[in-house]
Amino acid sequence: MNSILPLIKNNIDPDTKTQKKVKALIQQLCKDSSLEYDEFLYLLDNISPVTATYLKESAYQAKQPHYGDKVYLRSLIEISNYCTRGCLYCGISRYNTSVNRYRLTIDEILESCESAYLLGYKTFVLQAGEDPALSKEFISNVIITIKNKYPDTRITLSLGEQTKDTYQAWFDSGADRYLLRHETASPKLYESVHSKDMSLDIRMKCLQDLRDIGYQVGAGFMVGLPNQINADLVQDILFLKELNPHMVGIGPYLCHEDTILKGNDSGTLEETLVLLSIVRLLLPKVLLPSTTALGTIAKNGRELGLKAGANVLMPNVSPTQYRKDYEIYQNKICLTDTAETCYFCIRGRIRKYNHQADFSVGDHVDIKRSVTND
Ligand code: 5AD
Ligand code: FES
Repeated sequence: MNSILPLIKNNIDPDTKTQKKVKALIQQLCKDSSLEYDEFLYLLDNISPVTATYLKESAYQAKQPHYGDKVYLRSLIEISNYCTRGCLYCGISRYNTSVNRYRLTIDEILESCESAYLLGYKTFVLQAGEDPALSKEFISNVIITIKNKYPDTRITLSLGEQTKDTYQAWFDSGADRYLLRHETASPKLYESVHSKDMSLDIRMKCLQDLRDIGYQVGAGFMVGLPNQINADLVQDILFLKELNPHMVGIGPYLCHEDTILKGNDSGTLEETLVLLSIVRLLLPKVLLPSTTALGTIAKNGRELGLKAGANVLMPNVSPTQYRKDYEIYQNKICLTDTAETCYFCIRGRIRKYNHQADFSVGDHVDIKRSVTND
């Protein structure tokens, strides 16, 4: 099989015997929260439109005992698009010389936090490329300032690979969570979409360091990367089962024409929804965002993610004038919107799909902490 989810891609339902077997595997996954390697592979090779509907409904049911129809909201601030990394899929990698680079000042970061806080957000996600100017000291200072001002909040960092010492300093300054997608758990595929100076081993080591330090950790991967096959996705699934992260970010790969991978097909909505649902059944309590990339490939993509088991949304609160420059993939939504527009937009979407926006800090259900840091 040389593409992912072939029956979903070609919109074909197989014979009833195969459908029955797929359905039985989904039921087993619901019951045991895992399957064997060969069973996952069979599931991905044979899942089809009819059984995908069953899978998504099962995943929606699986989040109910832990989260019901609550959707946790996180405010996303894109603080710098400078990046020294060579991810071949990413529109802001070091290879893209046509990007207009920006870095927010500490005042601009604090203004974004203030507008987010006034709207009711209790989590600030600080995301950037790997920008050496975002030093250990600078980010520590940002974290301390934010936490002094808003003690009843959580800070999530998404600032790439760093030394354990830096991760520790940021944690000691008051950061709570860290997002670092593993991108793909297949070493061969990882190598084929990254520059030579990057390796899956380093990425895994970073995730382990973050976990050892005590962060709530988020891993994750892209669906539909060039040359990705079902066996690669099974590696992602089994890796996540073992890591057992608090959060998992999954989105479709979206081809960017200003990257080395230009001209490739993108991942699709349906493929991504299937993987989201599998991860919900695999890790029933996980915090699972319905990503902006999903909202980019389909108008109601994020809402369909909620129906397929996701329980987190991350509206953008970055200053509007910088948004167009944080184009990790093309046609990204919300580029001309303000924090307020995205807030009202997202609340409307949540309501329309019979979910409830939740503005608490929204820690993972197994984390027992008071709202203020102690
Ligand atoms: N398409 C989809 N997702 C992408 N990312 C980076 N580039 C792309 C792209 N072209 C994802 C990566 C990264 C996250 C911030 O965005 O998974 O970890
Ligand atoms: Fe930004 Fe809808 S979430 S406009």
